[in-house]
Amino acid sequence: MPVPVAAQAGASADGVGEGENSWGRRYLMCRPTHFEVLYRINPWMHHGVAVDPEAAQAQWEALVALLRAAGADVDEQPPQEGLPDLVFTANAGLVNGDRFLASRFRNPERQGEMVHDIAWFGEHGWEVHELPGAVVHEGAGDALPFRHVLLSGHRWRSDVAAHPLVAHELQVPVRPVELIDERFYHLDITFCPLDDRHAITTPGVWGGHGRKVVEALVPEPLALELHEAETFCANSVVVGRNIVMPSCPPRVGRQLERWGFEVAVADVGEFLKAGGGVRCLTLALDVDLR
Ligand code: ARG
Repeated sequence: MPVPVAAQAGASADGVGEGENSWGRRYLMCRPTHFEVLYRINPWMHHGVAVDPEAAQAQWEALVALLRAAGADVDEQPPQEGLPDLVFTANAGLVNGDRFLASRFRNPERQGEMVHDIAWFGEHGWEVHELPGAVVHEGAGDALPFRHVLLSGHRWRSDVAAHPLVAHELQVPVRPVELIDERFYHLDITFCPLDDRHAITTPGVWGGHGRKVVEALVPEPLALELHEAETFCANSVVVGRNIVMPSCPPRVGRQLERWGFEVAVADVGEFLKAGGGVRCLTLALDVDLR
């Protein structure tokens, strides 16, 4: 078995190895006690699809164990009856240092989650900010940092008008990426920052401007083919040199290994029934781009 690069190269005092993402070692997750597919708000969800509650529970526990083994801490948000998608904590909002910018959801089915997200962050020491008015943005599901910049997806779930507000509230530069294919309705199904130089990208489902933004920002992208992206392999969590993925197509795995990543695959089949994978089930709490 290859030794993770982080263990070989001298990691700095805060445990971040050279070139590694400065964040991604602490996550918020929500146990799938009330997880079901009760409505259809993305093309992956289908009416009448049953979730196996025991399988969902077991997959979630196994994912937590993999993240911990990769070196991450996991905090838990209490599940709430009647809010099946609360398990997808990536959509709760966005963290930058001690600030939390709460999401405003597009679909009424998820709007009830907001009060619980705001309560959790308020109770855990974050300064909570909210988006004004009717502008929607679905948090880290639609916005991921690459180095000092926040890439933010828009069209299906987040408004392009949210970007300047996010930049202002979080005091970070925000760059827009338009999502043109509804199956890839959130940015985190198309993009995964790996380290200072590398990211998984899906240019085929981005608008021309977004494609140029990412081209200029990411020196060495791993550009997915559509059939690879459809496996949700970009919806992965990176902890230093470890990557936990919902699936790993062979070509993708070979490239990741060449770049020094150790890949672990977590079966999240029950959650894919709702259109969510590994990244969607987590929210990074240690992002600090200030
Ligand atoms: N069923 C959820 C929805 O449609 C899935 C959310 C997936 N989250 C994500 N960050 N991509 O909103």
